[in-house]
Amino acid sequence: MTDKRSVTRREFLQTSGATGAVVAASTFAHPAIGAVKGANERLNFAILGPGGRAQAHIGHLLDMKKEGKPVDIIGVADVWDGNKKVGRGLYPSAERCGLDANDKTKVTKDYRKLIENKDIDAVVIATPDHWHATMAIQAMEAGKDVYCEKPMCHTIDEARRITETQAKTKQIMTVGVQSTASPIWKMANDVITSGKIGHVMQAQTSYYRNSNVGQWRYYQLTEDMNPKTVDWKMFLGTEFGLAPDQPFNRARYAQWRCYWDFGGGMYTDLFVHQLTHLIQAVGVRFPKRVVGAGGLYLEYDGRDVPDVATVVADYDEGCQVIISATMCNDVQLGEVIRGKNATIKFEGEKAFRVIPQSTGNAPAKPGENKGDGGELVSTNFNSGGDRDTRALWEHFIGCIRSRNPETLCPAETGYAAIATVNLGVDSYRYGKAYYFDKATGKVSEADQAWSKRWEQVSHERGKPNQIQGWKADPLEGSTVKAPAYQALEGDWIDGKDPAAKA
Ligand SMILES: NC(=O)c1ccc[n+]([C@@H]2O[C@H](COP(=O)([O-])OP(=O)(O)OC[C@H]3O[C@@H](n4cnc5c(N)ncnc54)[C@H](O)[C@@H]3O)[C@@H](O)[C@H]2O)c1
Repeated sequence: MTDKRSVTRREFLQTSGATGAVVAASTFAHPAIGAVKGANERLNFAILGPGGRAQAHIGHLLDMKKEGKPVDIIGVADVWDGNKKVGRGLYPSAERCGLDANDKTKVTKDYRKLIENKDIDAVVIATPDHWHATMAIQAMEAGKDVYCEKPMCHTIDEARRITETQAKTKQIMTVGVQSTASPIWKMANDVITSGKIGHVMQAQTSYYRNSNVGQWRYYQLTEDMNPKTVDWKMFLGTEFGLAPDQPFNRARYAQWRCYWDFGGGMYTDLFVHQLTHLIQAVGVRFPKRVVGAGGLYLEYDGRDVPDVATVVADYDEGCQVIISATMCNDVQLGEVIRGKNATIKFEGEKAFRVIPQSTGNAPAKPGENKGDGGELVSTNFNSGGDRDTRALWEHFIGCIRSRNPETLCPAETGYAAIATVNLGVDSYRYGKAYYFDKATGKVSEADQAWSKRWEQVSHERGKPNQIQGWKADPLEGSTVKAPAYQALEGDWIDGKDPAAKA
């Protein structure tokens, strides 16, 4: 039987406290911190790194301005002069935003001028990943709110520092994972915390791709990218402790995702998207143990990063998340959360099915359960045409005005995603498995303690842990029923049958 339940975006925003000041003030315990900007006061944004992705943000902000909303872009910073034909870089972006290219306080190759500018309320960070943390921390310390593109940053230590800075300064920050604007993940989480699918055992996601020219090589190199037009020192950020010094190279500038110095290949570029909404749905954040595997098996074009990769993350809550892809075939794994009693199978960002497990004593044959049918849960959320990014923007602006720190992808969620995928990178690169300590942010090499712990729980007939926010009975869908003959189990001591009747 299929029961269709539809939740509108408006309903979701209201129940999740995601709209503007009125709802936020009554829903969240957090005191309003900092100056609450009235609905009609103008919010001034600056764009740091107006390359490809930032053009979408400029578009959304200019659209809102055209619609009469009190927002504006009053500064842009980019290390490249830019190219008018491709509409990226410093001067083309300044022109698009209606800024005077001669005003060096607002149109600049040095982003610090915009951080110092007291008229700027918030910054959009859309540079390559290695710059995100430095810019985000400086901006928040200067009293600015931050829309930071995903991945939140380049290293786990940076992620911890961003999270601490956000907590200390109370600035409003969102990471630009636009899929988090869909209510579907929260709806799935509600199903899970109600105990309906039983103990969560495993979840999987993927971001498979294919390209004839090699992944990310479709970002074009142009002759006007050269040491005269690009402030290469500022791109590298060596003096800021970022990328190591190296000669100018157009591929490293424009196709930076292929090189470890600036990004993390598919781990950080793609896995972060999927992992972020999946952990929101499952109800876990920081993994305890992570292992990464993969290799560079085909795209031999001078890149560093692999073209096949898988991250396997295990959690104290007693479950596992798998994220996998190759950049040379684009058939997806599918997004699935497996519980003891049922499976959640996502159908894009709009719907999922809850498919009951039918279990008997004996296991089903492989392939017998096709994962079909079940109850359809759907929403009318529309992610087409970059509308999910627009929804993330509207929510973020609402949070800025009400000083509500609960953005759709707050710093701590960004940190959890970075910890997971970066440990996957390190595992792949250094051949180890790692533990993560969420209390301290410390990483250590994994040992046998993980498997020993679970063996001990089993030998002691312990109870399973549950995911955060579990509202059902602690054992709902979380037990195995011992068959009657299990009473015959037990150690024979001195030749005595432990099951023998006295
Ligand atoms: N959410 C999404 O769907 C999505 C999509 C694409 C990219 N992104 C993210 O957005 C970010 C940018 O990606 P992109 O594809 O636009 O890259 P890009 O190379 O097109 O743009 C980056 C821009 O930053 C500029 N830049 C580099 N260092 C700078 C510095 N120190 N100061 C100022 N500007 C600097 C570059 O000159 C360039 O114009 C990345 O973190 C990426 O992961 C997110």
